Amino acid sequence: MVHAVYPGSFDPLHNGHLDLIRRASKIYDRLTVAVLHNPLKDAYLFDVEERVAIVKDVVRHIKGVEVDTFGGLLADYMRSVKATVIVKGLRAISDFEVELQMAHLNRQLNPSVETTFIMTATRWSYVSSTRVKEIARYGADVSKLVPAATQRRLRERFERSPTG
Ligand code: PNS
Repeated sequence: MVHAVYPGSFDPLHNGHLDLIRRASKIYDRLTVAVLHNPLKDAYLFDVEERVAIVKDVVRHIKGVEVDTFGGLLADYMRSVKATVIVKGLRAISDFEVELQMAHLNRQLNPSVETTFIMTATRWSYVSSTRVKEIARYGADVSKLVPAATQRRLRERFERSPTG
């Protein structure tokens, strides 16, 4: 029984993330989407409860997928939930450089963990949470880029305050 963890900020979840969750859930017996709770990082648009609520809403029909939060080192979180595989998405070479470094360091910190990569589907390879927020902030349509739950939260957030 392989327990995999897909970690990230998910600020907010977009269609590229969702595609990866669907595909990873078919590979691993159990998949935990682990949302980073970083008290030092106040640059998030959504707090951790909001980010988790979106992910939970979107993945509720996908079998074998759970949602959790983590803080501190991912390697320690993996130990605490007895998970052995980290799943990451790769969009481009620029992702690879960052991910390669993290994979090596995570393995040094926790040698019983392997990092695996899934290539982002071509149709979502240009989507990032940063760009989604930028587009939504100016009132443009992001419905082709994000699930409905994310779209709703973005709309609410920017209606309240266009500066986020
Ligand atoms: O969605 P993101 O922001 O690209 O996700 C990055 C994340 C959360 C996977 C990464 O920052 C992480 O694992 N943070 C936890 C802290 C940690 O373990 N740092 C050392 C990694 S070698």
